[in-house]
Amino acid sequence: MEEAGLLAPLFRRQMEHCEVTADETVALVTDVQSKREFVGASFAAATDLGAEVFEVKVPEYGRNSVGADVSAGQGGTLRLPGGPVEACKAADMVFDFTLEGFIHVPERDAIRDADTRILRVGARQPFVLRRLMPWDDAEAQAVKERVQAAADRLASADEMRITSEYGTDVTMEVEPETAFDSYGFVDEPGKWDVWGQNMVSNYPTNVNGTIVIAPSDYNVVPFHDYYDAAVECVVEDGFITEINGDGGDAELMRGHMESYNDRDVFATSHFGWGLNPNGQFYNMAIHDRKPDETGVSASEGRVWEGNMLWSTGPNTHQDRYTNCHYDIAQKGCTITLDGEPVVTDGQVVE
Ligand SMILES: [Fe+2]
Repeated sequence: MEEAGLLAPLFRRQMEHCEVTADETVALVTDVQSKREFVGASFAAATDLGAEVFEVKVPEYGRNSVGADVSAGQGGTLRLPGGPVEACKAADMVFDFTLEGFIHVPERDAIRDADTRILRVGARQPFVLRRLMPWDDAEAQAVKERVQAAADRLASADEMRITSEYGTDVTMEVEPETAFDSYGFVDEPGKWDVWGQNMVSNYPTNVNGTIVIAPSDYNVVPFHDYYDAAVECVVEDGFITEINGDGGDAELMRGHMESYNDRDVFATSHFGWGLNPNGQFYNMAIHDRKPDETGVSASEGRVWEGNMLWSTGPNTHQDRYTNCHYDIAQKGCTITLDGEPVVTDGQVVE
């Protein structure tokens, strides 16, 4: 496979950021939709580094998934069978090449608890992977330090407040032990991350207020689309209680969420902000809105610098597992931590 040969240096560079060594074992978790050239390049790169490498292929939708047709699309709710979980635990590092991803599921934590690190590869095209990742070591270190500083800042706060000119005004209690630094590679035992993802987030409690999704804000999952009309979400004690708006977007969101007949679908999940200056909110319009093609939508949507990314549904910290997960990235928001801005009108405060 010629393409795999050409991509081997890209995967080798990422494995070097992830500190894969000759005495390690790399597991590649795939499904039938995984890009074969990525898998081939990973075999070549790991072998080049002297590591052991194997592939484990799983069903595209987990056996336990309910409503798989609507949950699919990189919302991260793929359930892994027991055998593959054990295989991953035996490895030092796992690449997640599945279309949906195993993120908001207990199997991910079981693998991490075995000190195995996991890197999800959400993008489906090499140009997206390359654009979002650092190349040389100094660049990678700078990305890591910047994201970690932001995560430390988040974890040290008590209250997070988000406002926007469209009428968003929501407050929440930061949960420091759930704060995470996503710098796009995994160089520590048990770390989970996504290739090229630079962002910080946490799973706050006592979320109360109003979130107004504005026109051209970004539905990362499940719709992979921009909003045409404003949608107002009223949040009371961590649950969306009203979804209002005159346009079709409000009806679409309401109808889709209600179709699950599950109150947990309306819970709020993670809140944070994007830190990747190489990500742009408009790239989904230019390239593709389908995660099974370029994957711009799901990979880049979460991370463009200065976004306010919030989500709904699952929260493993509260043992809340549900198949519906919205990630919504909003432009032009102001985020304050205990009154101090970290993002002002969509611009990151350094
Ligand atoms: Fe999410």
